[in-house]
Amino acid sequence: MGYNKVPCIAFFLWQFISFSLPYHSFAIEVDANATALLLLDASKGSSRPIPDTLFGIFFEEINHAGAGGLWAELVSNRGFEAGGPNVPSNIDPWSIIGNETFLIVATDRSSLFDRNKIALQMEVLCDTQGSNICPSGGVGIYNPGFWGMNIEQGKSYKVVFYVRSTDAVNISVSLTSSDGLQSLASANVIASASDVSNWTKKELLLTAEGTNHTSRLQLTTAKKGVIWFDQVSAMPVDTYKRHGFRNELFQMLADIKPQFIRFPGGCFVEGEWLRNAFRWKETIGPWEERPGHFGDVWMYWTDDGLGYFEFLQLAEDLNALPIWVFNNGISHQDQVDTTSVLPFVQEALDGIEFARGNASSKWGSVRAVMGHPKPFNLKYVAVGNEDCGKKNYRGNYLKFYDAIKRTYPDIQIISNCDGSNGPLDHPADFYDFHVYTSANDLFSKAHKFDQTSRNGPKAFVSEYAVTGNDAGKGSLKAALAEAAFLVGLEKNSDVVQMASYAPLFVNTNDRRWNPDAIVFDSSQVYGTPSYWVQRFFVESSGATLLNATLKTNSSAQLIASAITWQSGDGKTYIRIKVVNFGNSSVNLSIDVAGLDPNSEQLTGPTKTELTSTNLMDENSFTEQKKVAPGNGTTLPDGEMDVVLKPYSLTSLDFLKKTVSLRMWEADASSKSSI
Ligand SMILES: *[C@@H]1O[C@H](CO)[C@@H](O)[C@H](O)[C@H]1NC(C)=O
Ligand SMILES: *[C@@H]1O[C@H](CO)[C@@H](O)[C@H](O)[C@H]1NC(C)=O
Ligand SMILES: *[C@@H]1O[C@H](CO)[C@@H](O)[C@H](O)[C@H]1NC(C)=O
Ligand SMILES: *[C@@H]1O[C@H](CO)[C@@H](O)[C@H](O)[C@H]1NC(C)=O
Ligand SMILES: *[C@@H]1O[C@H](CO)[C@@H](O)[C@H](O)[C@H]1NC(C)=O
Ligand SMILES: *[C@@H]1O[C@H](CO)[C@@H](O)[C@H](O)[C@H]1NC(C)=O
Ligand SMILES: *[C@@H]1O[C@H](CO)[C@@H](O)[C@H](O)[C@H]1NC(C)=O
Ligand SMILES: *[C@@H]1O[C@H](CO)[C@@H](O)[C@H](O)[C@H]1NC(C)=O
Ligand SMILES: *[C@@H]1O[C@H](CO)[C@@H](O)[C@H](O)[C@H]1NC(C)=O
Ligand SMILES: *[C@@H]1O[C@H](CO)[C@@H](O)[C@H](O)[C@H]1NC(C)=O
Ligand SMILES: *[C@@H]1O[C@H](CO)[C@@H](O)[C@H](O)[C@H]1NC(C)=O
Repeated sequence: MGYNKVPCIAFFLWQFISFSLPYHSFAIEVDANATALLLLDASKGSSRPIPDTLFGIFFEEINHAGAGGLWAELVSNRGFEAGGPNVPSNIDPWSIIGNETFLIVATDRSSLFDRNKIALQMEVLCDTQGSNICPSGGVGIYNPGFWGMNIEQGKSYKVVFYVRSTDAVNISVSLTSSDGLQSLASANVIASASDVSNWTKKELLLTAEGTNHTSRLQLTTAKKGVIWFDQVSAMPVDTYKRHGFRNELFQMLADIKPQFIRFPGGCFVEGEWLRNAFRWKETIGPWEERPGHFGDVWMYWTDDGLGYFEFLQLAEDLNALPIWVFNNGISHQDQVDTTSVLPFVQEALDGIEFARGNASSKWGSVRAVMGHPKPFNLKYVAVGNEDCGKKNYRGNYLKFYDAIKRTYPDIQIISNCDGSNGPLDHPADFYDFHVYTSANDLFSKAHKFDQTSRNGPKAFVSEYAVTGNDAGKGSLKAALAEAAFLVGLEKNSDVVQMASYAPLFVNTNDRRWNPDAIVFDSSQVYGTPSYWVQRFFVESSGATLLNATLKTNSSAQLIASAITWQSGDGKTYIRIKVVNFGNSSVNLSIDVAGLDPNSEQLTGPTKTELTSTNLMDENSFTEQKKVAPGNGTTLPDGEMDVVLKPYSLTSLDFLKKTVSLRMWEADASSKSSI
């Protein structure tokens, strides 16, 4: 994240600015004077293929996008590691049920697992009988999840934890409302002293008898003794393909048909300090053995359940190409000298082998053990994030570049240095381009790549968004400027090969960066207008760009593109997209040249619009589709005159029919109708 005017070091702490902007009602100011003509050349000669990879997504672990988001794990800080490696340590967000008359809770370093030594020790002082009787319901600990767990009636949850005790245990495992009063599911784990004298893994399936979106997980007992807990997990059984991804969030991604997924950051990859950077080897293998880490740029702990393997799995499940961004020995505050960067280079090579080495290679075999013997389709890697200006970047970059090309000549390497204004001083297949700016500026940046050299590495616009006052928490205004920018990228897709909006997700309880494409909490989700803009471009990757030229006599702020695309059932469509970024409606006439009048016909169009009554309109949990395209309306066949509403994105899909004259006659002579 972050670049240009907003380096991620100075990340936005979301501040709510109440929008006291004047209410713009378009209806009263519509003046239909402006007209425009779109000249479209549908002939093969003036068209050009759009890269298969053009539109994708960028997933950063920011705003609790993964932990407490797409990754469906309900327990936060499941191994009690978030308080650091020393004891005693804070167990936040775990809390204690009961007071010190009844129990004493502490941490120690007795874990079964070497990479995450902290375990929780609970000494229960009360009992079912005697002088210190435990309160009804028992005493123990609870985890509130990420601002509450979404527990739904009839759904099942797999709870796993490690336990050890000096005595026999009778532990109640339950899912309850946040105050503990409403029990949604419960089971007892009963074990003899010999069963639990050493660490023992316990697994149980709880089926909810009620629904509460802000529930918690409790581990309680009414029996005196000392119990140790470690690595406590609660996962909904119902996740995408049982791969651990929250279904409705996964679906939001699948619906924009991303061609690639850049991951896992962003600044998350760099770290404020190198010691807190994302290091892939710490995030693979059995979940209970992962150390987890504190992301010190976005300031939260992750248990790394969503690790390198899961990101690759996510890409595969989305049918998207993985684009792995790795740390190149540079964080925000410290950097490794080029002379000592080789361990990082080896780590990157090992990571590539983990992804695509065969199942008998050193790291490919680790992947195979994790359940994926088939290699993942890793073809792109990025050397760092936003590090071009750092002292050691070029030196470090070349070490990575040379080593990777030597071992994997087909891997495409992405540099952090901007090559849009002139050639790079180092070899690369792609260069990163990030832009966060105002709406007017992004609208004008639709032409950013018009003058870029057609030789040399291709552009990867891996982060773009309108930010600041124009954006609100995701406004129509921001989205329309982004739509114009994307139209410009589509038209320049001979040099721009990939583009992704940023950030993708925000959990409303931790809005570190604003705005975002997809907003959610424990149980709800909606897309901002910026999300819906991306839906207009899902057919563009791999389509054919047509020459579309706009002629207008007004100062109207318009931009348009046209593509031909094939639907799944083999039909061919021409799609025109026009952004009207002005406050007047525009009468648009479309003139299509280059069709064979004897054999090619256009029917439709179907018109789809993204607009609203107010330029600063946003979506919300209560009005999820206030600013969203409708189902589309079918205009009379061959309608070539359309009104573009003020502040709108309009898409027109014409079905292109190839009519064989002989077939046509045969059809005409047959009396049957279909
Ligand atoms: C529209 O036409 C009216 C009447 O001719 C004129 O007063 C007005 O300035 C025009 N508006 C624009 C935007 O051209
Ligand atoms: C624009 O189109 C509308 C509706 O088709 C029509 O009423 C109006 O006269 C047109 N305006 C111009 C300037 O062509
Ligand atoms: C696109 O069309 C415009 C106007 O019709 C024409 O001037 C231009 O040369 C065409 N460009 C290409 C690449 O065919
Ligand atoms: C603990 O709670 C019990 C019952 O609520 C109360 O009687 C007792 O005084 C409390 N002990 C302490 C140390 O607060
Ligand atoms: C375990 O504890 C529950 C209360 O949570 C109690 O109802 C049950 O009888 C106990 N079972 C055994 C075997 O002690
Ligand atoms: C969930 O639990 C909270 C806290 O007890 C309660 O206020 C809320 O009404 C519950 N919601 C439902 C849907 O039962
Ligand atoms: C406890 O279990 C672990 C692994 O299950 C094993 O390595 C260890 O030797 C056991 N310790 C004792 C004292 O049995
Ligand atoms: C698997 O990969 C290793 C290391 O790259 C290589 O030496 C070996 O020949 C490969 N095996 C097969 C069956 O391709
Ligand atoms: C644009 O042309 C239309 C007629 O084609 C005319 O009515 C209108 O006034 C013109 N607008 C401007 C801004 O010149
Ligand atoms: C409409 O936009 C034009 C320029 O784009 C501006 O001069 C005019 O003030 C705007 N009108 C309103 C009512 O905002
Ligand atoms: C769009 O279509 C869906 C499914 O056919 C329907 O349920 C929905 O009401 C339609 N929405 C609008 C705005 O017409």
